[in-house]
Amino acid sequence: MSNLFEQRKTVRKYTSQPVPHEVLRSVLEDAQKAPSWANSQPWEVHVATGETLERLRAANLQAYDEKVSADDSDMPRPAVWPEYLQERMNAAYAKVFEQSGIARGDQQAREDNWRNNFYFFNAPVAAFICLDRNLTEWSTLDAGIYAGNLMLAAAQHGLGSTPAASSVSYPHILREVLGIPEHQRIVVGIMLGYEDKEHPYNRPTSSRVTLEENIHFSH
Ligand SMILES: Cc1cc2nc3c(=O)[nH]c(=O)nc-3n(C[C@H](O)[C@H](O)[C@H](O)COP(=O)(O)O)c2cc1C
Repeated sequence: MSNLFEQRKTVRKYTSQPVPHEVLRSVLEDAQKAPSWANSQPWEVHVATGETLERLRAANLQAYDEKVSADDSDMPRPAVWPEYLQERMNAAYAKVFEQSGIARGDQQAREDNWRNNFYFFNAPVAAFICLDRNLTEWSTLDAGIYAGNLMLAAAQHGLGSTPAASSVSYPHILREVLGIPEHQRIVVGIMLGYEDKEHPYNRPTSSRVTLEENIHFSH
């Protein structure tokens, strides 16, 4: 098996092939081994598959198509990103569009690409990572480590994965369909499934800045 860190990438279109329950459980068992503050394991993970996921997908897409405001996400975004990060992000978006075969001025293709987020990329599994609202950034860090583990565990079991902020744009829908209680903050959704290897949305390959750019050695 190739290096898991090379293998994992953000998948943006899945086949409809369901993930066998035993495989899903194995992935979740591995992810569960994530370290956390005093082993508190604060993540509460709501996993949607089958008919429940289809109901969720339909409601989410309807909200998107009806232009329901996505501003009530439980996870605030920075009002302004530091300029050097905004530049990196702009370059990344441009590269994703270009590699997916979406021309610069093709608004319809861009719109279709964005709408695909609200369709949860056709994934057969969507896992929503939540935290008790009383927790602090330390537990959000734990949830992030858990999410990383989950995606690498998925890769180890031959599954693709997608971390998607867009998937938690409508927390009221997730709460209603999945019964997520109010006292839990919905942090992020991770989609899982089998990558549609033919689809142009899965062509993008991401690069990283060199160590010289953001690793600060002091000898
Ligand atoms: C917290 C988080 C939220 C993300 N949200 C989205 C999203 O809403 N839609 C999307 O297409 N990709 C999303 N991504 C994927 C990133 O764009 C992707 O990780 C980055 O471009 C690097 O590409 P790679 O994962 O293929 O290496 C998200 C990633 C993270 C970690």
